[in-house]
Amino acid sequence: MTRILSGMQPTNQLHLGNYLGALKNWVALQDRGENLFCVVDLHAITVPQDPETLIRSTREIAAAYIAAGIDTAQSIIFAQSHVSAHAELGWILGCFTPLGWLNRMTQFKEKAGKDRENALLGLYGYPVLMAADILTYHATHVPVGEDQKQHLELTRDIAGAFNRRYEVDFFPLPEPQILGEATRVMSLRDGTKKMSKSDPSDMSRINMTDSPDLIAQKIRKAKTDPDALPFSPDELETRPEADNLLTLYAALSDVSKRAAIARFAGAQFSLLKAELTEVAIEKLGPIAARMTALMEDTAAIDAILRDGAEKANAIAQPILAETKRLVGFLPG
Ligand code: TYM
Repeated sequence: MTRILSGMQPTNQLHLGNYLGALKNWVALQDRGENLFCVVDLHAITVPQDPETLIRSTREIAAAYIAAGIDTAQSIIFAQSHVSAHAELGWILGCFTPLGWLNRMTQFKEKAGKDRENALLGLYGYPVLMAADILTYHATHVPVGEDQKQHLELTRDIAGAFNRRYEVDFFPLPEPQILGEATRVMSLRDGTKKMSKSDPSDMSRINMTDSPDLIAQKIRKAKTDPDALPFSPDELETRPEADNLLTLYAALSDVSKRAAIARFAGAQFSLLKAELTEVAIEKLGPIAARMTALMEDTAAIDAILRDGAEKANAIAQPILAETKRLVGFLPG
C-alpha cells in the first residue's frame, strides 16, 4: 500500500522552491495511491503569527494546492488543527524522543539563532509534531524538498524507537521522496542561500502569485557571475548562481539538468534569463490565476477543508486508538 502525506506551513507566501521542491511532485504522484496534503497551521505558530493573517494564509495554501493540480476527488486536503490526532500523537512521540536527537536538527538551530534561552518549546518540538503528522496516518511516502530530509530521518528514528519499545511493527518507516531537478532552490540574490519565505528581500524569491512583470524583473535582477554558461555539470560546482538558474530552467521546462546545460552551453546569462522568464510566467501564471479565483469563494475552500478533515480523521483515529492501547492508556 502507498499512502502519501506531505504539508506546507501557512506562513507568508508560497515560492518557487515550495512549488518545484514539493507541490509539483505531489501533483505528479497523486494517482499512485491514497494522498493526504495538510496545511500545517500548528507548525506555523512555532513563530509568532497574526491570527487574521494565519486564517487567510491557511486558505491560501489550500487554494495553492488545488490551483497547482491537487484533485480533491483523489486527494485529501485538510488543516492540521482540524485533526486533533496530530497533537495527541505528537505528545506521545515526544516521550520517545531524546533531547540529543532534537539538538541535532539544523532547522531549529537556524531558526532559534543565538538566543537559545528564549527559543520556544514549540519550535524545539516542531520535528516531533512533524513525525506525528506522518505516523498518525501510517504514511509510507513523504514527498518534500531536500531541507526536510533530516526531519524525515528523525521521523524514522522515532517510529523505530516506539516499535522497539513495545516489540511491535506498528509504525511503518516512511520513505522521503526528494524528487525532480530542483530539490533545493536557492535565493536569486545569493546562490549559496536557500530560497526562503523568511528572507527579508522579496527579490530573493519568486512567489507563486507574483505578476508576470514582477517575475521578469526578479529574474532580470538575479545575481550572475561574469562568465559564459558552462559546458559541463562539473563547472557548476563553483558557480552557484549559474547552477541555480539552470536548475530552475530545467525543472520548470521538465527537462533534465544535463539537457539545460547543453542548451545554454557557452551562451550569456541574458539568453538563459530570457527563456527562464518565459517558462516561469507560462507555468506560474495559470496557477496564480486559479488561486486568485479560488480565494474569491472562501466558503468553498472552507468546505473542502472540512470535508478533508473528516476523511483524514477517519484514517487517523483508529491508528491513534491503537497507539493508545499499545501505550497502556485506559480505554475511554
Ligand atoms: P515548508 O512549509 O517550509 O515548505 C514546504 C515544502 O517546500 C519545500 N521547500 C523547498 N524545496 C526546494 N527548495 C527550496 N528552497 C524549498 N523551500 C521549501 C520543503 O522541503 C517542503 O517540502 N516541516 C515542513 C512542513 C511539514 C511537513 C509535515 C512536510 C510539517 N509536517 C509532514 C511533510 C510531512 C516545512 O516546514 O515545510
